[in-house]
Amino acid sequence: MPTSKQIQIMPTVVDPRTSIVPTPQHAPFRKRIAFAIGRILALVMRTRANAIESGTRIRAPHLLDRLIRNGIQAQALQERDHVRLRDIHRNYWSKEALKFGSDYGFRFEEQFLQFDVEMLRVAFKHFDRNNLDSVIELGCGNGKVLEYVSQQIASCEEFIGIDIDPNRIDANKHHYEGQQLEFVTGNALSWLQTHVKPSMMLMTNGGVLEYFLHSEVIEIFELAAQQSNTAIALIETVGSDHDLDKDTQTHPYGREFAFSHNYLHLLKEAGFKIRHFSERRCENGDRWVRIFATH
Ligand SMILES: C[S@@+](CC[C@H](N)C(=O)[O-])C[C@H]1O[C@@H](n2cnc3c(N)ncnc32)[C@H](O)[C@@H]1O
Repeated sequence: MPTSKQIQIMPTVVDPRTSIVPTPQHAPFRKRIAFAIGRILALVMRTRANAIESGTRIRAPHLLDRLIRNGIQAQALQERDHVRLRDIHRNYWSKEALKFGSDYGFRFEEQFLQFDVEMLRVAFKHFDRNNLDSVIELGCGNGKVLEYVSQQIASCEEFIGIDIDPNRIDANKHHYEGQQLEFVTGNALSWLQTHVKPSMMLMTNGGVLEYFLHSEVIEIFELAAQQSNTAIALIETVGSDHDLDKDTQTHPYGREFAFSHNYLHLLKEAGFKIRHFSERRCENGDRWVRIFATH
């Protein structure tokens, strides 16, 4: 069981930039205006709206494109259509992860190494005493975190990074050539359905499961729970006002309407034991949760 030192529950702080947005009416005033304009534009400019929604029009988005995207998301929020919101995220990431890695590559040094690695140190200690055959990073992006982890767990031989953007994975294969790391293009859940195995740690960094549906996160945790000796390490963001003590639901939240999941609850439901839980809040309103759990 976790020690009280490892658990810091932070007071709930509502930051409008990263709070839960169950319907368009819950969005901040300026966002509601953008929604209204975007919905009209999406109706009038249907071809452009379809291209934005399917991810074929992402590069150098014009203000008009951003407004239309807002309009489409507002419609999905209004209809509580989480599958449509998920698809918008998935179409976006399948084209944009490579660019994200170059724009936000600094997060490895400035966030992961400075703050979030403390959660993984609990995991590294755990694997000093417990066997581990493979580490699977879902949504591995530029592979820096997977490379770091591979240098810390000497006893493990398999390190696999999965990402939905084929260009991201090609770049990783080239960059890490000759290293012990393997990179695979695909939807993380589909990959897991056929590759899950015992003595494996699943991990995410930088916000990955927030682009998956509630039911998909449950399925990922259950797939891991069906195997012996599995662990899960998560570095994810959640809504600034998500009450993790009481609210077990999933809600769209923040600027991009990703999903705020109650990971603690979902992991416990799948039978995982929480070994570390901590939170970190940033000036920009982001609320990071760091969790290490074993089964
Ligand atoms: C916010 S980025 C984080 C990237 C990386 N983990 C980091 O810390 O820099 C989210 C990553 O998840 C990937 N992703 C999103 N949905 C995915 C899915 N369904 N299957 C696999 N990867 C996915 C994206 O392509 C992207 O690389």
